Amino acid sequence: MRTTSRLALTGIATAAALTLAACGGSGDGAGAGGDGKTMKLALNQTEDHPSYIALEAFGEDLNEATDGRWDIEVYPNATLGAQDETIQLVSDGSVDLSIVSAPQLENLNDDFVVFSLPTVFDSVDSQMSIINDADVVGDVYASLEDSQNFSVVGGITQGARSFYTKDGPVQTPADMQGLKIRVQESPVFISMMKALGASATPMAFGEVYTGLQSGVIDGAENNEVSYFTQKHFEVAPYFSYTRHLIGADFLIASTPVLDAMSQEDRAAFDEAWQNTWKYHTELWNEATEKAITDAESGGATFTEVDAGAFADALSPMIEEFVTTDTQRALYDGIKAAGE
Ligand code: GCU
Repeated sequence: MRTTSRLALTGIATAAALTLAACGGSGDGAGAGGDGKTMKLALNQTEDHPSYIALEAFGEDLNEATDGRWDIEVYPNATLGAQDETIQLVSDGSVDLSIVSAPQLENLNDDFVVFSLPTVFDSVDSQMSIINDADVVGDVYASLEDSQNFSVVGGITQGARSFYTKDGPVQTPADMQGLKIRVQESPVFISMMKALGASATPMAFGEVYTGLQSGVIDGAENNEVSYFTQKHFEVAPYFSYTRHLIGADFLIASTPVLDAMSQEDRAAFDEAWQNTWKYHTELWNEATEKAITDAESGGATFTEVDAGAFADALSPMIEEFVTTDTQRALYDGIKAAGE
């Protein structure tokens, strides 16, 4: 659906953008927004990553639907900072929007831990409808508005994450013993490495290539798309299909900016977001296939391994991390919605 409508929309949105440029634009990107503005969106992916492509389309759709009042400028490649920094920038209002990985929000409210647990999501399609369903996630998404001034608008998938290493594939958890593995900066990921006998090295996404190249770390874990677009395959050519969890990225938005939108423009924003995550999901499978082919051409090897043994080793994490009533309610809500 989205693929065809996107092509049609692109022409219209381009025309709208040209008209807008001729009229002098719709705001300077500072302050809450008033009658509209061009919002800055921070992203730590490259321009050929599906997130960049879908978010660019988000801006075009929004611009068109609000007659040019609201637009989005996507800043890729972490040019506005690493994710933990952009969370701070959205919180203090100097950046309007950012894409952040679920574990980054875990540090602000540990209910978010639930989104990064192994086996919580069964498939990308089911994950995507659940993490954009306000009935299931509405409370947790609004939970940082008072303390941090931002709202979670919704999610896009990171697909299944697997390990990749410099020196040969990891076939079983025993192969992880003693390896230094880069993880996202969060307790749940540190605990995951502990459960597998590896040594967790928390590190920002943008530092992983150099970390692998210099030997500070022996490996990392991610999806095929980031493995390829970040060129990690060049320095860690053994990708082992552990698929230990399906990760989620969130769109966070400055709450004062959202509140500055008229009811009509806010509805347009929400609708454009619904189109965005669906478009992103459509792009995801194709991008994954291409990433595999391109990384293989660059010398990477993809190996099916004993994923069940990894899942077994990680299964105690549910009990370890789902401990409060709100975490339990969220976990149960996600599980029930996935059935
Ligand atoms: C994925 C995810 C990013 C995240 C990265 C990481 O690429 O989409 O949001 O930053 O993993 O491992 O840090």
